[in-house]
Amino acid sequence: MANEQKNNANQVIKLVIEVIGFLLYSLALIIVAVYKTCLPSAYQYRKNITGDIALVTGGGGGLGRLLALRLAKLGATVVLWDVNVKGVEETVGLVKGIGGKAYGYKCDLSDKEDVYRVAKKTQQEVGDVTILLNNAGVVSGQSLLDTPDILIKRTFDVNVIAHFWTVKAFLPKMIEKDHGHIVTIASLAGHLGVNKLVDYCSSKYAAVGFDEALKAELDAQGVKGVKTTVICPYFIQQTGMFDNVNSKFFPKLKANDVADKTIEALRKEYNVVILPGYLRWLLPLKLIMPWSVVSNFLNNMLPDASPHHQPTPIVQIEESEESLPHKIVNSVSASVSQTKPSLDKQGKDL
Ligand SMILES: NC(=O)c1ccc[n+]([C@@H]2O[C@H](COP(=O)([O-])OP(=O)(O)OC[C@H]3O[C@@H](n4cnc5c(N)ncnc54)[C@H](O)[C@@H]3O)[C@@H](O)[C@H]2O)c1
Repeated sequence: MANEQKNNANQVIKLVIEVIGFLLYSLALIIVAVYKTCLPSAYQYRKNITGDIALVTGGGGGLGRLLALRLAKLGATVVLWDVNVKGVEETVGLVKGIGGKAYGYKCDLSDKEDVYRVAKKTQQEVGDVTILLNNAGVVSGQSLLDTPDILIKRTFDVNVIAHFWTVKAFLPKMIEKDHGHIVTIASLAGHLGVNKLVDYCSSKYAAVGFDEALKAELDAQGVKGVKTTVICPYFIQQTGMFDNVNSKFFPKLKANDVADKTIEALRKEYNVVILPGYLRWLLPLKLIMPWSVVSNFLNNMLPDASPHHQPTPIVQIEESEESLPHKIVNSVSASVSQTKPSLDKQGKDL
């Protein structure tokens, strides 16, 4: 009996020591993080991405195009995937126009086989992707009961399921090299549910969860050189996706600012980025306030979050597997004056 009491007391002391050790270590980590954040910008760590191969999904327009241009300026070789072939051609032309290296591929992210096939081609023709930006996204923008099943499924396929396939395709090499970065372009809609965006919000919540769980898994596996970042912007002006949405309390973001902040987050290896940054402090209120307050706020801020246009069009890919001309541009030695790329390796003009 006396021995048992002694054992119990020892266990309690051990637990208390463990908890105190955990708290002290956490405090040290917080101090280091605060110190790093408070350093003047010029002294903050920024990784060099020259020579990296950066894949931007949905690079045929909008935010993806702006990200591609910034990555190329920093010396990365840019790979663009999109269903919008014309858009990809234009982006490749723009990257070449600033002296960058760019490769474009037609890829339907809602089709797992297509993702794996184009991933293999990319690896064979360009090399190992070391920076992956899962940026492509679609929106349906109707109330749940008005949204056709096919659009709900498409929203999930593009906005989050595709991330599983792209990461499974490229993460193994990143781990092998102990060098890589996976950036998820989610949304503030991944932290806040909004009227008429039920499928969009839930897919973005899933994308936020995907990033967090993947980060936890890499940490648990002791993978030090592969980082993950999730970007959660509020509505962005002029990319096409939410152009007509009126926002009352907060101004919509400028696409160039979102692109700049995303590249900054990549280079500084941030974990979660909420844009605009001050909303990070307001978000927790939704868990504290009564739902009636949250709902009232949302209805006032965004009377109608529907983009008021047709849902992102569904693209039909009719070619057979063999005839798919995925590779549309190869620009290893980019010419500054060349702006209109055209032929793939097999000479197929898209
Ligand atoms: N625009 C906003 O207000 C806003 C706000 C927060 C988050 N986001 C997110 O930012 C990302 C970029 O959005 P954007 O504003 O540039 O939109 P966008 O519509 O301009 O660009 C999305 C790109 O994804 C491509 N795409 C769509 N379906 C595809 C598929 N099946 N396969 C391959 N490519 C496909 C489109 O062709 C397009 O080029 C998206 O994930 C979006 O959800 C946008």
